[in-house]
Amino acid sequence: MRKINKIRYDALQTREKNNLTRHRLKLSSPQATQIILDNNDKKSYLNFSSNNYLGLANHPDVMMAMKNAVDKFGVSACSSDMVTGHTVAHHDLEQKLAQISNKPRALIFANGFMANMAINTTLYKKTNFIYQDKLNHSSAILGGLASDATLVRYAHLDAAHLLSKIKVRDGGGAIMSESIFSMGGDFAPLQRLSNIATENDLDLIIDDAHGFGVLGDNGLQVADDYNDNSNVIYMATLGKALGCYGAYVAGSDLVCDTLLQFAPQHIYTTALPVAVIRAADKALDVMQKENWRVEKLSESIHYFKKLASSFNIKLTKSNTAIQPIIIGDNQKTIDISSYLKNNGIIVGAIRPPTVPKNFARLRITLTAEHSPAQIKTLVKAINEAVIFHKLNL
Ligand SMILES: Cc1ncc(COP(=O)(O)O)c(C=O)c1O
Repeated sequence: MRKINKIRYDALQTREKNNLTRHRLKLSSPQATQIILDNNDKKSYLNFSSNNYLGLANHPDVMMAMKNAVDKFGVSACSSDMVTGHTVAHHDLEQKLAQISNKPRALIFANGFMANMAINTTLYKKTNFIYQDKLNHSSAILGGLASDATLVRYAHLDAAHLLSKIKVRDGGGAIMSESIFSMGGDFAPLQRLSNIATENDLDLIIDDAHGFGVLGDNGLQVADDYNDNSNVIYMATLGKALGCYGAYVAGSDLVCDTLLQFAPQHIYTTALPVAVIRAADKALDVMQKENWRVEKLSESIHYFKKLASSFNIKLTKSNTAIQPIIIGDNQKTIDISSYLKNNGIIVGAIRPPTVPKNFARLRITLTAEHSPAQIKTLVKAINEAVIFHKLNL
């Protein structure tokens, strides 16, 4: 075997040995609370594993907006945003995103991964420091590592630890944190981080991927709360609560112009198709018009938490749509997830390196479209799985 292939082979073997191999599902239906898996038998499953928080991925108005855009603009932009990929649709959406984010400008990126890479690598230079929560998303951490600036990681949610790290350095830069953490559903101490950033002349980069569309009465709580802070750089994705695809960065003219002119992740890639842009634009309208979806999501969360505690299922402090159940052991987490699947329910078994070692978990995501009956089915099945596998949660 070639040396390089031996290295790959060994890495795959190690992953398998540690029960860390990932397997993809094969859906043959839209992303909804009920999905069909094409395992030759096309069975229907309850889905508690998508970030379609508001249930907009199949909204008829959003789908129609996409279809109309295809009729008018075709399928692909076939060019960079900086060449001929930028259309009136992109322009209009950027204006709308800037306005709802209470920022002077917004710039669309292909996805949140690229947006986070661009922020970290384009906006900070050799003399700068980027302070990141240890459990930030891979795109933020990799962006920090790829940046010429020095990446400094502080303990999860720990503002005092962050402060102790800043105190020994002088060089400017940024603090970066998710608002709601993707694998824990816990909320960053944003006000504290904002104060620390301002006092130390740092930017505050907020990755609101899981808060956008979800938090507050209007789903825009984070953008509303930090609307006066000129040092805030706001990032959100369009592929979760909005049910579409893509992402954006909102901030000052200076920040957005710097990204527009210098971020390779923006310049050297094909612009998003107009159909995707128009769908996201319509999804934003629906999110604002059908405000009950945010309320309904919050009802789903409360109902789930109440029911789970009545079965003595140990939850975390998360009050958000992301409800993890920490199992710890990788194999046990797979066992529970498989038990649920055999009983017609999909809940992902999240294991390292996505989460820290010994913190494998079931990651349950709730949406505005889950019915109380579906949530009840889930909680009862988890309870049965725990009893069946003699787990002590
Ligand atoms: C916190 C966080 N940031 C960024 C991303 C990347 O977003 P996208 O899926 O648009 O690439 C994700 C999603 O996977 C995420 O959970």
